[in-house]
Amino acid sequence: MAIVLEDVSKTYEVKGKRIEALKKLSLTIEEGEIFGLIGFSGAGKSTLLRLINLLEAPSSGKVNVNGTELGSLTGEDLRIRRQKIGMIFQQFNLIESKTVYQNIEFVLKASKYDKKKMRGRIEELLDLVGLGDKADSYPKNLSGGQKQRVGIARALANHPDVLLCDEATSALDPDTTKTILKLLKRINRELGITIVLITHEMEVIKEVADRVGVMTEGEVVEIDDVYSIFSHPKHDVTRGFVQDIYDFVIPSHIDVNDRSEVITIKFLNEHAEANYVNQLYRHFKCDISILNGRIEYIHDMPLGFLMLHIKGEPDEVARLKSFIDESKGIERAEIYAEID
Ligand SMILES: Nc1ncnc2c1ncn2[C@@H]1O[C@H](COP(=O)(O)OP(=O)(O)O)[C@@H](O)[C@H]1O
Ligand SMILES: [Mg+2]
Repeated sequence: MAIVLEDVSKTYEVKGKRIEALKKLSLTIEEGEIFGLIGFSGAGKSTLLRLINLLEAPSSGKVNVNGTELGSLTGEDLRIRRQKIGMIFQQFNLIESKTVYQNIEFVLKASKYDKKKMRGRIEELLDLVGLGDKADSYPKNLSGGQKQRVGIARALANHPDVLLCDEATSALDPDTTKTILKLLKRINRELGITIVLITHEMEVIKEVADRVGVMTEGEVVEIDDVYSIFSHPKHDVTRGFVQDIYDFVIPSHIDVNDRSEVITIKFLNEHAEANYVNQLYRHFKCDISILNGRIEYIHDMPLGFLMLHIKGEPDEVARLKSFIDESKGIERAEIYAEID
């Protein structure tokens, strides 16, 4: 289920004012991946999802899902295509007057699901999301995480091939967010459902996305695999989103002068090993102290940072720096935070 957006624009008119929510945006989401779309509020993320799930049509450009141009669908074809796209929301959008069971039954009835298979399907869905014992509960008696599990069960009811998630974990606490993201990952890997996940939180991206698109002002300004987005962000907006992990401040008591320097090095994937500092000690006549450091895990791949204070003869310090620059998988990190 590849999703291909080609030169897609979406313009709204509000009180005679034109709002360009999407500006000639092109993007391909591959079948079976978890594609994370990150951007600040107002970037156009939700608008983009509404075009993919056929709630709205683009002002210009094409949206193509699995080889079918969505603009060409009408009537029954459109209805069937819509059913194959599941969606979950930040506010869950459950029907409060219905039980968990009835919330799922509702969408199955609407899609004229085989009545004889309905109960079995609902039980299967509740088991999948870990709510086998909550069929008769009402939404008001569920926690946020449980409500979102109902949302997921409902979104999957009609065997969709795409699941769209609009800030699906933004109303949840960090621990619950993790368990919901785990569930989404399982659904992606086990059921092969393509997931498009929009968020303004980099933690969410780091946890589940295979590839990432960074959106700002109606455009996608950077697309890459999740590790590259964190290790080599290019656009200013992307840098802003990953800033936290590059946020190293030189301690104020550290005296940097012509015989001493502070550098931060970045260790990529399997090179994130402490042994490297050993090599620096052995090869160079410098004093090296560690001022700060951290390792981020993106999926399971480490991305390490180490801030070092290096003292020595200028020539020796220069030799050490070129050694770093020539080491495989090691780079000098740019620090994005402002130093006060
Ligand atoms: N139905 C609408 N009518 C008018 N303006 C809209 C509508 N939907 C979105 N917009 C505008 O389009 C821009 C993008 O909104 P949205 O897609 O909701 O961004 P995001 O989800 O990234 O926060 C915003 O300026 C928003 O005000
Ligand atoms: Mg939104």
